[in-house]
Amino acid sequence: MASERTKAEIKIVRRVARWFAGAARPLAWRTTPRDAYRSLVSEVMLQQTQVSRVLEKFDGFVARFPTAAALARADEGEVLAAWSGLGYYRRARLLHAAARAIVQRHAGEVPRSVEALCELPGVGRYTAGAIASIVFGRDAPIVDGNVARVLLRISARPLATDKAMGWAWKKAERLATLAHGRGVVGGFNEGLMELGATICTPASPRCGSCPVARLCAARAKGTQGSIPRPKARAAVRAMVCEVVVVVDRLGRLLVERRGAGGMWGGLWQAPTHEHEGGAAARNLSTLMALQGVRVGRVAMEFEHATTHRRVVFRVRRARAARPESLLALGRERRWATREEIAGLGLSSAQRRILLGDG
Ligand code: ADE
Repeated sequence: MASERTKAEIKIVRRVARWFAGAARPLAWRTTPRDAYRSLVSEVMLQQTQVSRVLEKFDGFVARFPTAAALARADEGEVLAAWSGLGYYRRARLLHAAARAIVQRHAGEVPRSVEALCELPGVGRYTAGAIASIVFGRDAPIVDGNVARVLLRISARPLATDKAMGWAWKKAERLATLAHGRGVVGGFNEGLMELGATICTPASPRCGSCPVARLCAARAKGTQGSIPRPKARAAVRAMVCEVVVVVDRLGRLLVERRGAGGMWGGLWQAPTHEHEGGAAARNLSTLMALQGVRVGRVAMEFEHATTHRRVVFRVRRARAARPESLLALGRERRWATREEIAGLGLSSAQRRILLGDG
């Protein structure tokens, strides 16, 4: 005989999966049947980016690279250009490498098992579990921040999400095993993510619309608002990027390519000098002045915040009298028209600076 706890858990699995079958948002990668390559692309894009932003980029990316083989053949610059605006560009490079591994090791077909998926570059336990369960019906668990929150609330565990990940993986594994044989693991997993995104939200969860409200221990105690506990804030690094937009007589702009590593590695930018702020920082306008370019006053200033950094961009404009002299300096540099720039890999901040959008 199944214990009371197991019975309640089976109910949770069934209800979440049934609810998801009717309530799933029609997102671009939720095709019938699911396509493993599109699922891989969407899951990698969703790793650190909100659904709304991914939706803006997903169709264009898969239209340009419709299969793993097409992505594997592309050069890195094209891939980064198609990724522009999604941030965390390391993911694009890893996805590109994953496509190559899929062609070399799996004859162009996305593998089906969690183990083989985990061996692809950039694919961890979460992404592998999502593809294996959602596309291939394997009973693999998945846990991300949304799923952990839902599970913590259902069990009334007042932990911070980061402290609870080990517990949440065990719980999700148990639930996925219970779903086994019911043909609902993928729907249950994606349903948990959907619940977290649309109903069991961090603030003001809409318990009135929740399919498992009556099975939720936090709801019974009225503690859903304080689960998960807020985690200690990560230190945020402050940075200043001094940017000079240099125009030549033909209206072309000077752009340079960043080195491969670090933040925005391999992307293009207007000449940019980074520092940590403070009066002692030697800024790019001084450097440009030394190179014979007259730099104007700050024309635009804005802030770009990510989880770990707060970056102030300070943009000046300048005209180049002797355009050739600027090309030889250090980084890979070239003069480019706006149209050419639109086809390069750019961070959203540099897109805004160089093209006035994003
Ligand atoms: N976030 C990550 N993967 C997702 C998915 N498949 N559906 C909705 N949100 C997600």
